Amino acid sequence: MKALFICGDNEEWKLITNIFHAHFTNIDLLCVNTSQEALDTFMFEGNFGLILLECSMKDTDPTLLAKEIYETIGERPLIFIGTAAMIKDRIKEEFFDSHDMVLIYNKPYKPLELINSINEAISLAKQLEYEESVVELDPSEFLPLKLRNFYLYDQVPFDVYIELTKTKFLKAISSHKKYPQSLIQDFQKRNIKYLYLEKNEHLKFLENSVKKISQSLYQTDKSDRKRRLQTLVAAVLVTHQYIKDVGVSDQLKEFVDLIISNFGKIIEEHSSLEEILLNFPMEHGDLAEQAVLKGIICEFLVRSMGWRSDLTRSKTGLASILHDMFLEREEWSTITYKDHPHLDDLTELQKKNFLDHPKKAAESSQYFSQYTDVDFIIEEHHEQPDNTGFPRGINSGKITKVSAIFIIANNFVIQIVINGITASTIQNIIQGFNSLYTVGSFKEPYSHLVKELKRK
Ligand SMILES: [Fe+2]
Repeated sequence: MKALFICGDNEEWKLITNIFHAHFTNIDLLCVNTSQEALDTFMFEGNFGLILLECSMKDTDPTLLAKEIYETIGERPLIFIGTAAMIKDRIKEEFFDSHDMVLIYNKPYKPLELINSINEAISLAKQLEYEESVVELDPSEFLPLKLRNFYLYDQVPFDVYIELTKTKFLKAISSHKKYPQSLIQDFQKRNIKYLYLEKNEHLKFLENSVKKISQSLYQTDKSDRKRRLQTLVAAVLVTHQYIKDVGVSDQLKEFVDLIISNFGKIIEEHSSLEEILLNFPMEHGDLAEQAVLKGIICEFLVRSMGWRSDLTRSKTGLASILHDMFLEREEWSTITYKDHPHLDDLTELQKKNFLDHPKKAAESSQYFSQYTDVDFIIEEHHEQPDNTGFPRGINSGKITKVSAIFIIANNFVIQIVINGITASTIQNIIQGFNSLYTVGSFKEPYSHLVKELKRK
């Protein structure tokens, strides 16, 4: 915030400047001598949140100057400073009574009183700033974007809003203005999950993100393995948003191909699957992080089993990206069987939508015409060999090997999200799977996972 002190006495400038330096360090104070300089300053220096106007200036009527200021920059906190006699003589009562943001400070200066007075004006300025940034918008013209997307940038070319009510939005980020990553972290702490953009801007944001992430994936070299993992998480996040809001375009298909080919690169850049797991940047355990990890584990298993076809490998990659994208809530991603106790907390409609999420994601895979038969892998991702899974509750005899690979990767990652990634949780998960996955189509992929991860 900027403050302007209008006063003809340079000694008073010093006093006020010292007070601001000592007590209001985040406010920029400018001092000017005359009313004309003040008006010129508003013209060239932009907006000021707070005005201090000393009333004894020669050739200046302070009430008239205040009126002119309000006409120029709008109403904002303004403190008239002067002796009681000067204020009585020069400030029109009518002006004072008709403006809520006008305050009076009676000289002589007493630091504590002056600080209190400035604090009062600042809180008025903050309230004004807040009120000015709350806007009524037509909600049908705005779309939500997951907060995490904004970690990709440090400025965006459009205004971004937080939803306060169905029609009221608070401007959170101004267009073309740099924002620190800590701002996004603050929103996260306040449990804000989405920011809102105008529909057209939303599409531009997604397209720019696709371009930016693609470039980053092409440029990342072996020495920056963590960056590749983080960028892949961002890539899946944008893919989910893009499919939900725009659909599957040619640009997105290319992007998804690039993501899938990077699952292989990750494996080639690490010495073992355990190394990848222990270095994986799991921050939220959310759908995007899970998808990347599942994609990598599937790719590893398919390679380990000696399946040479790129197309087969790509199928599990696409399934990893898409399978949970229509979950209503991310935390439901860890519900793995049809009698899971958490399902009792859901309404009937939520439960139905949850049980349908594999089918809905399977349908979306059909838009990726370069991959075939991914739909059944996705549709079966919650089936289990002992028929406790859903939606169909089929048993191991009916589950193909490629589905079995994906089911094992899916459940392995879910267990990691629940228990954390450490050397010992990996061992426990592998051990726990022993009674479930040593049958039918599951046997071979499970044995490869054990061979790779089990500590002798
Ligand atoms: Fe799922």
